[in-house]
Amino acid sequence: MGIVCKMKLIELEKIMEQLKTDFIGQEIKYFAEATSTNDVAKELAAKGVKEGTIVLAETQTQGRGRLGRRWLSPEGGIWLSVILRPKIPAKDFYQLTFMAAVAVAKTIRRMFKLNAEIKWPNDVLVNDRKVCGILTESSVRGDAVDFAVIGIGVNANVDLASFPKDLRSSVTSLEAEVKGEVGRERFLCALLKELENYYTMIQQKKFEFVLEEWKSLTTLFGAHVEVTSFEGKVRGLAVGVNRNGGLEVLLKNGTIRKVLSGDVVKQKQQRRPLK
Ligand code: BTN
Repeated sequence: MGIVCKMKLIELEKIMEQLKTDFIGQEIKYFAEATSTNDVAKELAAKGVKEGTIVLAETQTQGRGRLGRRWLSPEGGIWLSVILRPKIPAKDFYQLTFMAAVAVAKTIRRMFKLNAEIKWPNDVLVNDRKVCGILTESSVRGDAVDFAVIGIGVNANVDLASFPKDLRSSVTSLEAEVKGEVGRERFLCALLKELENYYTMIQQKKFEFVLEEWKSLTTLFGAHVEVTSFEGKVRGLAVGVNRNGGLEVLLKNGTIRKVLSGDVVKQKQQRRPLK
């Protein structure tokens, strides 16, 4: 039996008409249903497809999130993976995650005038609810990145009622925020253009510009946070990010703890101005 999709499908012709990039998205692998676009993209990248090729699916049956979590991918979303071949050392890989979060937040702000913010490391929130998650994966050869897959999941027009009850208070969709269906093709074209701009900066070794944008889009600094990582919980004041993309947390005892991965929750305490 075929896949039954009630939602309007993404129109590839519209994307090709509106896309203003040089290489990102110029080649599109489109699926009505995929396991995970990141898995498909990794296979294609290993076979040598062109840099900038994107994998796009209407739904995913095995969508993956950070820290080994499941990522719900019903119809109406934008489930996208971008294949890149960056000329950067493996230690700078995190730069790609930062640039993707900046590109998504900027696109949402520009297109819908919504106050999109980045929550470390790479969630994009609107009104404190998650609207987009990013999962970057890589294949490394020696010290260099052979290819990277930037997986981006945007709850564009997804039906929030289809999410489990315990998630509903922490997620949102673009449609819910703008109170109307959003044009996924237009959003995609704008996002791919932003991605290409920021990616070019990274390739030109100008990550500091991306980082400045990232910092201006996060509300975390100066906030009391609790970070849960594989090593346990850390509580303190979020004071910055270091050169590896790790979050710097000022502990009560005055030392700074660097956390490389985990989940961060803002505590309900007054923000403290940072000096
Ligand atoms: C997270 O916030 O945990 C990251 C979620 C990333 C989801 C996207 S959807 C497209 C791509 N394919 C996947 O399986 N995951 C990413």
